[in-house]
Amino acid sequence: MNHNPVWLALDLPRLDSAEELARKVSGHIGGLKLGLEFFYAHGHHGVHEIHKIGLPIFLDLKLHDIPNTVAGAMQSIHVLEPSIVTVHAAGGRAMMEDAKAAAGEHCKVVAVTVLTSLDSDDLAATGIHAAPHDQALRLAELAHAAGVDGIVCSGHEVAAVHDQWKDGYFVVPGLRPADSKTSDQKRTVTPREARDAGASVLVVGRPISRAADPLAAARAIEATL
Ligand code: C5P
Repeated sequence: MNHNPVWLALDLPRLDSAEELARKVSGHIGGLKLGLEFFYAHGHHGVHEIHKIGLPIFLDLKLHDIPNTVAGAMQSIHVLEPSIVTVHAAGGRAMMEDAKAAAGEHCKVVAVTVLTSLDSDDLAATGIHAAPHDQALRLAELAHAAGVDGIVCSGHEVAAVHDQWKDGYFVVPGLRPADSKTSDQKRTVTPREARDAGASVLVVGRPISRAADPLAAARAIEATL
């Protein structure tokens, strides 16, 4: 595995476009993230095709079911040799333990804590009366206790979780380069800030995939690290 912490989210509906983009920037990223749209559209065949590019694969499948079913799903994807797979921490300790036990030897299991699309009101509507940040830290503790490798968290939480889990593997999405158009609109974190706060993997999608020149965008991000 190379040591570039930037992994490209290949959130493109077409397999040929995803392959083309990945090949174009492959020298300037550390791995490729394939999510639900890709996996449901292209399945094992699509993952095998993307593997040919020669970069490690992150299957962002966000598994959440009873422990036995999640363990079975993990076994069904062994053949794809993913380097990282996601599960939902809300699935509970036994589910995470069984997911880790069923994962391949070289596969990191990483738990999603609180989706960034949920605010306190959304959590309260599901019976969780905690701020998203506090709930994320609580689920991070549970994931740690369950023996998975790390969690997915926002750039705003990574420093706090890193403090309580020194050797955790932290996957951080939702990043925007300093010159990005959205950076003055939202509370964004740059790839460099996230890495300095303890992120292990920096997930970058649209700042590269929707750039007029994806190769230049990937190079520019790499140069900041
Ligand atoms: O926003 P961007 O296109 O860089 O997102 C890249 C990936 O990160 C997406 O595949 C999305 O699933 C994930 N993401 C996330 N939480 C966010 C923003 C993006 O999990 N707040």
